[in-house]
Amino acid sequence: MQIEGGTALVTGANRGLGRRFAAELLARGATVYAAARNPDSVDQPGVTPIALDVTDPSSVARAAEITGDVTLLVNNAGSSTGASLLTGSLADIQLEMNTHFFGTLAVTRAFAPQLAAGGGGAILNVLSALSWVNFPASGAYCAAKSAEWSLTNAVRQELAAQGTQVSALHVGYMDTDMVRHVDAPKSDPAVVAKLALDELVAGNVEILADDVSRQVRSGLSGGVAALYPRFA
Ligand SMILES: NC(=O)c1ccc[n+]([C@@H]2O[C@H](COP(=O)([O-])OP(=O)(O)OC[C@H]3O[C@@H](n4cnc5c(N)ncnc54)[C@H](OP(=O)(O)O)[C@@H]3O)[C@@H](O)[C@H]2O)c1
Repeated sequence: MQIEGGTALVTGANRGLGRRFAAELLARGATVYAAARNPDSVDQPGVTPIALDVTDPSSVARAAEITGDVTLLVNNAGSSTGASLLTGSLADIQLEMNTHFFGTLAVTRAFAPQLAAGGGGAILNVLSALSWVNFPASGAYCAAKSAEWSLTNAVRQELAAQGTQVSALHVGYMDTDMVRHVDAPKSDPAVVAKLALDELVAGNVEILADDVSRQVRSGLSGGVAALYPRFA
């Protein structure tokens, strides 16, 4: 996967991690579509703002029509309602699935043909340590991230036939609006964007950005007891 000279599209590129991805891709010599629900909120010089709401099929289709030459798709857009699966509103729970699972799926399906036309290219899905462990206070978000992880594993296998690399980025807390209310150590999203692109270029399909992700990942082999000690 070569970034320089390619064309990247980043969803949710107006702020947070997506904004840092757009900046880093530009610095590495890519043409960058900075996709956002409100393209007027994209304020980085050098990128091309484009309207894209990942939960709106007509918006996704329009973005794919406008572009046509994307070689790297970064599925970054994300919601975080903090909804519990048992007590949260069903609308919030559906929003999490619509954004992380159905949104990522819709964008992937829409852009796969142009990735193929460009020789394969790559998709980078922004997942989480919470794809692997569930905090019930944000149970809907965690379930949606798990679903997005499974989706990533499925499309990696299917898109291998057209030469598209599909990589997953797992990360713990990052210093963005999404977790502004959380008092815990957080990674710098600019550092995470750089690390993720280095690993993507190296061909890594499972990218672990921090110690939290590495710890949770290693806990998977211990089963329920390792990740949820009260049930040991
Ligand atoms: N922050 C963390 O600790 C953390 C940890 C692990 C994984 N992640 C993941 O990292 C990714 C980026 O999150 P962030 O931390 O940068 O959060 P953020 O600062 O809250 O940014 C979220 C971005 O997603 C966009 N978005 C939300 N719903 C959308 C939709 N339907 N269509 C298009 N764009 C939409 C937002 O656009 P608007 O400006 O229009 O709202 C915004 O640009 C997400 O996938 C998140 O799940 C975050």
